[in-house]
Amino acid sequence: MYKRQSFVSLRLIVYSLVALVANGDYLIGLGSHDMTGPAAGVNMMGYANMEQVTGGIHFRLRARAFIVAESADGSRIAFVNLDAGMASQLVTIKVLERLKSRYGDLYNEDNVAISGTHTHAGPGGYLQYVTYSITSLGFVPQSFDALVKAIELSIAQAHDNLKPGSIFINTGDLENAGINRSPSAYLFNPPEERAKYKRNVDTLMTLLKFVDKSSGKSIGAFSWFATHGTSMSRDNKLISGDNKGAAARFLEDWFAAGNKNSSAAINTRLEGSQGAVLNQASRIKATGGQACSKTASQSAKVRKNDGSRFVGAFCQSNVGDVSPNVLGAFCLDSGKPCDFNHSSCHGNDQLCVGRGPGYPDEILSTKIIGERQFQKAVDLFTSAEEEITGKIDYRLVYLNFTDIEVVLDGNQVVKTCPAALGPGFAAGTTDGPGVFGFQQGDTEINEFWKKVRDAIKEPSQHQVDCQKPKAVLLDTGEMFWPYAWAPAILPIQILRLGKLIILSVPGEFTTMAGRRLREAVKETLISYGNGEFNDDTQVVIAGLTNTYSQYVATFEEYKQQRYEAASTLYGPHTLSAYIQEFKKLAQTLARGDKNIGKGPSPPDLSSIQISLLADPLGDSPPPGIKFGDIKRDVITKGNFKLGDRVNATFWSANPRYDLLTEGTFAVVEMLQGDKWIPAYDDDDFSLYFKWDGPFYSSGSYGLATIEWEVPQEASAGIYRLRHFGSFRTMKNSPVSYFTGASSAFTVS
Ligand SMILES: *[C@@H]1O[C@H](CO)[C@@H](O)[C@H](O)[C@H]1NC(C)=O
Ligand SMILES: *[C@@H]1O[C@H](CO)[C@@H](O)[C@H](O)[C@H]1NC(C)=O
Ligand SMILES: *[C@@H]1O[C@H](CO)[C@@H](O)[C@H](O)[C@H]1NC(C)=O
Repeated sequence: MYKRQSFVSLRLIVYSLVALVANGDYLIGLGSHDMTGPAAGVNMMGYANMEQVTGGIHFRLRARAFIVAESADGSRIAFVNLDAGMASQLVTIKVLERLKSRYGDLYNEDNVAISGTHTHAGPGGYLQYVTYSITSLGFVPQSFDALVKAIELSIAQAHDNLKPGSIFINTGDLENAGINRSPSAYLFNPPEERAKYKRNVDTLMTLLKFVDKSSGKSIGAFSWFATHGTSMSRDNKLISGDNKGAAARFLEDWFAAGNKNSSAAINTRLEGSQGAVLNQASRIKATGGQACSKTASQSAKVRKNDGSRFVGAFCQSNVGDVSPNVLGAFCLDSGKPCDFNHSSCHGNDQLCVGRGPGYPDEILSTKIIGERQFQKAVDLFTSAEEEITGKIDYRLVYLNFTDIEVVLDGNQVVKTCPAALGPGFAAGTTDGPGVFGFQQGDTEINEFWKKVRDAIKEPSQHQVDCQKPKAVLLDTGEMFWPYAWAPAILPIQILRLGKLIILSVPGEFTTMAGRRLREAVKETLISYGNGEFNDDTQVVIAGLTNTYSQYVATFEEYKQQRYEAASTLYGPHTLSAYIQEFKKLAQTLARGDKNIGKGPSPPDLSSIQISLLADPLGDSPPPGIKFGDIKRDVITKGNFKLGDRVNATFWSANPRYDLLTEGTFAVVEMLQGDKWIPAYDDDDFSLYFKWDGPFYSSGSYGLATIEWEVPQEASAGIYRLRHFGSFRTMKNSPVSYFTGASSAFTVS
C-alpha cells in the first residue's frame, strides 16, 4: 500500500513536471534601454545622403530585448530589437564580448539575435565596412558606443527580470502599412508563383505576447511585420525611430495607461511625478540658465526606466521592396505617376518620390503608419489565446558568400560572387532617390562612369561575368583599401521558440525572396523533424539581423536590376545560396544535431577603423549669456489650443558632450499646485528638440529650440517648456550641466 502510494505520488510529480513544460512555462525576461546617439552633426544611416546630419531629436531610440529560457540551466534565446537602421557586425561582436564577461557562455553568438528596425533617422557610423561609413566620414565611436551599451544593458535588464511566465502567439493581416516599391520587378517572378499570393507584399503581422506567471500581468509584446523605415525622408534632421519606433512608443504608452486612451497615460504620468517646487520668481517668467546635475534631466524624464515597464517592440521582416509610402510614387513636376519600370520622370530619377499617407507631412506619415502597426498589434495582443509550448533551440553558421557553390534544381551547379553594386543602387529608390543620374533597371554603365569606376577599382573579369546581368558599378567585394568595403562572411541563424521559427537574416529580403526562404525552411523542418514540426509551424523572417549586407532579390527580380537587385551583393544566385544553406541549418535543428561546423568567423575591424568626424571642441556662450538662457521666449499672451504649436529657443551647447541617456533634452512641465510636473519629454511624439549651431569649432555655442504641438489628449492648464543640456569649455575639460525654462503659458 505504502509502496503503491509513493508510486502514485512519483507519477504525479512526473506528470506535473511534464504538464509544467507542456503548459508553456518558460523563464521570461524583458528589457529596454535608451540608445539615442549623437543629436548634432552626425550623418544619418540609411539614405547615404551626406547632407542629412542629425540636428535634434523627434523621439528617442531604444534597444528592446526579450530572453526566453526553458529553465534556469536550460536552453535560452535572447532577441534584441534596435531602433537602428540595421544590425552591425562590429556591434554584434562587441556586445557578445561584453555578454561573455558578464555571463560566461550563457549568451553567445548562437543564441543571441540583434535586429534593426531599419529606421533611416538614426545617427550612423557604427558599421565596420567602408561602403556603410562613407557618408558618415568613417566610423563614429559615439554612435557605436551608444548602441553597444544599450544592447548590453537591455539584455542585462531582461536577464535580471527572468521569471516564470507564458507566451502567446497571434497573427493577423495589416493591409495598409506597406506597398511594393518595385512592382515591375515583382512581375518578373513566375506567374504560377505569384498566383499563390493575393498581394505583392506580405501583410502578415506575427505577435508574441509575454505574460508573467505570478501576477498574470502582461510584460511585453514583440511583433514582426515588413515595411521600410522610410516614412521620414532623406531631408529629415531629427533623430526618430520612424514608423516602427513610433508604433513601439504608442503601444508602450497605451499599456501604461491601463490599455486605455492616451489621455489616461498623461494622468498616470502626472500622478507618478515628484515635480520641482517653485519659487515665486520662476512661476510665470522664464528662468535664466542655471547649473544643474545630469540627474536633473533623468528625474525630469516622464518614462523612467526602472526595469518594470512593459516592453513593446516592432521588428522588421522581409522588407526589401516594401515601402510605407502607400499612396505611391509620383513625379514632383507633373504630379503624374512615375515611369513604371524605372521609377523616373522623363529620365530623371530624382523627380520621382513616394508619398506617405500624410503627404506632404512626413511626421504625419510616420504617425499614421506607426498607428496602423500599433492598432494591429493591439488587436493581436488583446485577442492572443494560443499559448506557445515546446522546445527552445537555435543554430548559427557563418558563410563566406564570396564563392558558395549552389546546386540548383536539375543539379546545375552555380556560384555566388564577391560583393558588388550595380547602377540601380546609385539610382536609389522612390523612398529616397539617388544623385548621379542613374535609373533603376539600368544594366549598362556609360564610358564616363566606367572610367570613374576603374579609377577606384576595375572589377576582375570573373566578377564582371559572375554578376551578370548586373553591371558592376562599385566592386565592393574586391575593394580592401583602407579596409574591406563589403562583408564576405555572413551569419545565418535559426531561433526556435516552440512552434515559432525565427530566421535571422543579415539583410533586406524582398517579399518573394522571403516567401521562398520561409517555405523552404518549413518544408525542411517538416521532412526531417520526426513529427516535431507540421503545417502549423510558423516561420518569420527577422530582417537586418546580426550584421548587414544590403538586399536579397530573387533570381528573376535580379534580371530587372532595380535598386533591390542592384544591391543584391553576391550575384544572381544570392537567394539560392541562402535557401540552400538555411535548409542545411534547418536540417540540423530538426534532427537535433548540435555538432555543426561554425564556418569562418567574421573579422573584427575595430582597430583599423578611420574616423574623420571630429568631436566638438568645447563650447562657451556669448558674453553676458549663460547656457540655458532664453533666446526667444514663448508667446505668453492668449491661450494655446489643442493642435497649436508653441516653441521657445534657448542658448545651448552641442548635445554631443553628454547624450543624456535615459534622460531628456526637452520637457513640457505642467503646473500642479505650486509644483512644475514633467508631462512630456523628448520621447514624446508631440515634443521636438531641435538643435542648430556650428558643429566643430571651439568656443562655439548653438541654439536649442523646443517645440510642442499641443496634443489632443493634453489637459487644460498652465505649462512651460524646459531645456536640459551640457557642455565642456574645452575638449577635455569636465562636463557641466545646465537647464532653463520658458515663461508659463496656458492651454485651454
Ligand atoms: C516594362 O518592361 C517590360 C519588359 O521588361 C515591358 O514588357 C513593359 O511593357 C514595360 N512597361 C512599361 C509601362 O513601360
Ligand atoms: C572568402 O572566400 C574568398 C574566396 O575563396 C577568399 O579569397 C577570402 O579570403 C574569404 N574571405 C574571408 C574574410 O575569409
Ligand atoms: C516659434 O514660435 C514663433 C512665435 O513665437 C513663430 O514665429 C515661429 O515660427 C515658431 N518657430 C517654429 C520653428 O515653429
